[in-house]
Amino acid sequence: MKHTHNLEYELFDSWEELSINEKELITKAYSICEKAYAPYSKFSVGAAVLLENGEVVLGNNQENIAYPSGLCAERVALFYTGANFPDIAVQTICIVANGDLIPFDTILAPCGGCRQVMLETEIRQNKPYRVILVSQNKKTIVFNSAKDLLPFAFGTN
Ligand code: THU
Repeated sequence: MKHTHNLEYELFDSWEELSINEKELITKAYSICEKAYAPYSKFSVGAAVLLENGEVVLGNNQENIAYPSGLCAERVALFYTGANFPDIAVQTICIVANGDLIPFDTILAPCGGCRQVMLETEIRQNKPYRVILVSQNKKTIVFNSAKDLLPFAFGTN
């Protein structure tokens, strides 16, 4: 039997159309993006995680000469969050990038490994959180749940 999977998301021409609080979060993601350690890919990524208590955790990609030892910005931020604020729920994650690796008008979509970690953060806290993805020309997608980015994930469905 055929089934259809629907995906709901909001699309904006610019992240400047979002709320003041979310714009502030995106600005923070850009500031941490500038501090990424990405000498090999020359592609910088920044992630800003807003927690329910108002705390903001920032992360960026950390590369290594032994390539697979590096880690994406999302996982740096979410693992720091899990380590330091295990009982505080994530409300929003915002991810931005800077570099030539993907076209300017393409929204930075997290890699599969990061999606799995994003999903488990949501399952762990038993509450959905917003995911804001931004392109270098400001185009923005907002999902209301990390689950939407990884249907039929390992260990779920
Ligand atoms: N990267 C991230 O930090 N997040 C993503 O969602 C995709 C890729 C990093 C990994 C590597 O340091 C660089 O971007 C190029 O792939």
